[in-house]
Amino acid sequence: MSAPISKTGDKLLLRALRREKVERTPVWLMRQAGRYLSEYRAVRAQADGFLGMVRDPELAAEVTLQPIRRFGMDGAILFSDILLPLEALGMELRFDEGGPHLPKPVRTRADVEALRAVEPRQALDYVGRALGLVKRALPAHVTLLGFAGAPFTLASYAIEGGTSKSFLELRKLMYRDTATWELLLAKLADLTAAHLAYQAECGAEALVLFDTWAGTLTRADYRRYARPWTERVVRAVPAHVPLVLFAGQAEHLFEDQLALAPTGVAVDHRMELARAFDQAGGRVALQGNLDPGALLSSPEEVALRTRALLDSVAGRAGHVLNLGHGVLPPTDPECVAALVETARSARP
Ligand code: CP3
Repeated sequence: MSAPISKTGDKLLLRALRREKVERTPVWLMRQAGRYLSEYRAVRAQADGFLGMVRDPELAAEVTLQPIRRFGMDGAILFSDILLPLEALGMELRFDEGGPHLPKPVRTRADVEALRAVEPRQALDYVGRALGLVKRALPAHVTLLGFAGAPFTLASYAIEGGTSKSFLELRKLMYRDTATWELLLAKLADLTAAHLAYQAECGAEALVLFDTWAGTLTRADYRRYARPWTERVVRAVPAHVPLVLFAGQAEHLFEDQLALAPTGVAVDHRMELARAFDQAGGRVALQGNLDPGALLSSPEEVALRTRALLDSVAGRAGHVLNLGHGVLPPTDPECVAALVETARSARP
């Protein structure tokens, strides 16, 4: 882990996000900390569940650092979750075997009006403390990433009460009581903006805004019901902090994401990265986009696919290597090692 820092003292990942020429393509992975790592499972076995890990700054920092120690990525994303800020609005949040569960979802005007935001530095102080601990322990060339959920995706959890396939309750509220929908999205946008600013204050050097479910909307509905509040967040982020926008299965929204002018856009693996570079035309940096499912193959296959992906980018400025979505739990760590090593030894 002795990658050089450039003469400007700036980190590789930050330079790539600024679309500067770099000596090699930086790499980090969404969900790089998690159940596929035995050292994560060991910490989790001692902790009070997933939320117990996240709310304990020492444990969150330890788990954040695990993949950096093992693989040497260029970015460390804080171990936390996009749903925790919903607690700062007064919502109850649990994680069980089936994933996140919000036992009292918001469905009515009165529910939305009752949401009261508590300052992130108060309600989410453990996030700031974990960032501080990671920052101190991180190798000097590694970039510390903070993150939050975009208003639309947070609203989907707040309304559905968990992960949904068809978003029926969300659709009903969004279409039938649009004024209440807009009030909810405004509250979520303000909270998200405050949470991102708080993380930047606490040492996050770049930020990721996750809009996992935005791709379930048509382009017209995205513009009407989601984009204005994502835009509010993008505009509110401190100007000196790079922001990467992620949306799943959202090729039809790619042009809209470019129009929001974030620092970078995360490209889902179903979109061809070279074409995304052509379409972006140097307006933003692009992150991605190996298929996380391909990491269930073999280290040799992962190395081949990583090289092919880098070749397809052909040294264009502003590439941050990543997956198209998060690392899957049954992934063999050797496949993650093959991805990172291939990136670290390749020259653009
Ligand atoms: O990427 C990282 O390593 C940083 C940590 C991180 C987690 N969640 C940890 C986590 C980040 C950035 C997230 C973001 C997140 N959380 C998103 C957006 C990104 C995406 O995946 O689309 C979403 C939609 C969530 C909500 C969420 N959290 C779900 C649906 C689940 C259950 C599914 C699952 O993978 O278990 C979680 C739990 C969760 N968040 C885990 C981790 C490591 C699993 C916890 C465990 O059981 O140990």
